[in-house]
Amino acid sequence: MRAFPDGFLWGSSTSAYQIEGAHDADGKGPSVWDWIAHTDGAVENKDTGDVACDHYHRVDEDVALMQGLGLRAYRFSTAWTRVLPEGVGRVNEAGLDFYDRVVDGLMEAGIRPFLTLYHWDIPLALHRRGGWLNRDIADWFGEYASLIASRLGDRVQDWMTINEPQVFLNMGYSPQLRSNHEAGLTLDEKLLVIHNCLRAHGRGVQAIREHSKSEPRVGWAPVGVCNYPATDDPADIAAAKADTLGVNPAHYWNNTWYNDPIFFGHYPEDGLKAYEGKVPEIHPGDMELIAQPVDWLGINMYQGIAVKAGEKGPEHQLPFPPGHPRSRFAWPLTPEILRWGPRWLHERYQVPLYITENGYSSTDWVHLDGKVHDPQRIDFMRRYLHQLRKAIDDGADVRGYFHWSLFDNFEWAEGYDQRFGLVHVDFQNQTRTPKDSFSYYSEVIKTNGANL
Ligand code: FCB
Repeated sequence: MRAFPDGFLWGSSTSAYQIEGAHDADGKGPSVWDWIAHTDGAVENKDTGDVACDHYHRVDEDVALMQGLGLRAYRFSTAWTRVLPEGVGRVNEAGLDFYDRVVDGLMEAGIRPFLTLYHWDIPLALHRRGGWLNRDIADWFGEYASLIASRLGDRVQDWMTINEPQVFLNMGYSPQLRSNHEAGLTLDEKLLVIHNCLRAHGRGVQAIREHSKSEPRVGWAPVGVCNYPATDDPADIAAAKADTLGVNPAHYWNNTWYNDPIFFGHYPEDGLKAYEGKVPEIHPGDMELIAQPVDWLGINMYQGIAVKAGEKGPEHQLPFPPGHPRSRFAWPLTPEILRWGPRWLHERYQVPLYITENGYSSTDWVHLDGKVHDPQRIDFMRRYLHQLRKAIDDGADVRGYFHWSLFDNFEWAEGYDQRFGLVHVDFQNQTRTPKDSFSYYSEVIKTNGANL
């Protein structure tokens, strides 16, 4: 295949609770996930992130692995309660020291840090004060963002405020986490959570710009919701685009309700109609706060649904045909989303994009030859990256790709059953074994995608 554009950034992603472990080490406070993971029935096999990949104690070894892979960029998150154990107020220096070590290690290895401030681990103390339902969350988040930016903003230049609001607003509010993460929040409350999340994002952007000692480039990382055309028929393409950029009244799973306020300073018209009577009160100044200029948009993309033009509008082609390829999570393989999603989102928002997550879960194990063979993941990567190359040919300004994930790790309510890593982790003894896909991705990086 033709190589990707010069300077295309090849990376990989993780998040704090999923890899760090050391859940109460050196003064860290509890986050909502420390609590959820210890709630009966919340997580498969009663797994917790107490130890996870023990990354907290293995940063040097792990950065060496990244360097061996040839990563140009590494996306990780800071744990709010490691630096502010109660969410606000008292600062835990040991937590800041840890992230200093992470960032210094990356810089020495020539790997560009992409830092996410919030990947779902709200401080338990703040959750108990209403968490995302409380308007004060914007200021709490601002305090946290200021602290991290003051400490790391001399070296970190690439920032994401918040990861996947579409998903986390359903987490942390319910004991029923295993049953598809349904929240027990009413639609009105969900819309309030989203509004507060957008306000917190805005405060975060302000804080990063105010406190960074270098020139920051700020984005965020929502889910890139994308349904793709079932055929090349222009009518199907138009239907899939309308579906991808629309708001469905039945749920909150979309792009525009989250991104339009940031990029345009207002909620989308169709959403206001769809959610009529449920939209939270918008205080003076809210939309200005939300619409702080950002430099790029991150999108996390895994799966979508094929769409055909129907008499009454876009028609989802469901169910998938019997035997359609799926991951261990049973997520269908739909590589086309990496072609159409970036294209439509770039057309709409006109900013550079990064694919901040994309990956495949499997049942990998160490084979008798001592290696981890994961041909499905390699094929997944080839198929998705081929489509991403097309998106760039079509004119989408995509600057980089972050594979989820570097390591097998704690996959939320699924515990350790879903292995997403390029590196296999034996959770009994923390042995790291790079999988075949690790070598493959290393070649992708070396050849800038020409080997695909
Ligand atoms: C995304 C999350 C990430 C990981 C992947 C598989 O929704 O952002 O933490 O769980 O899915």
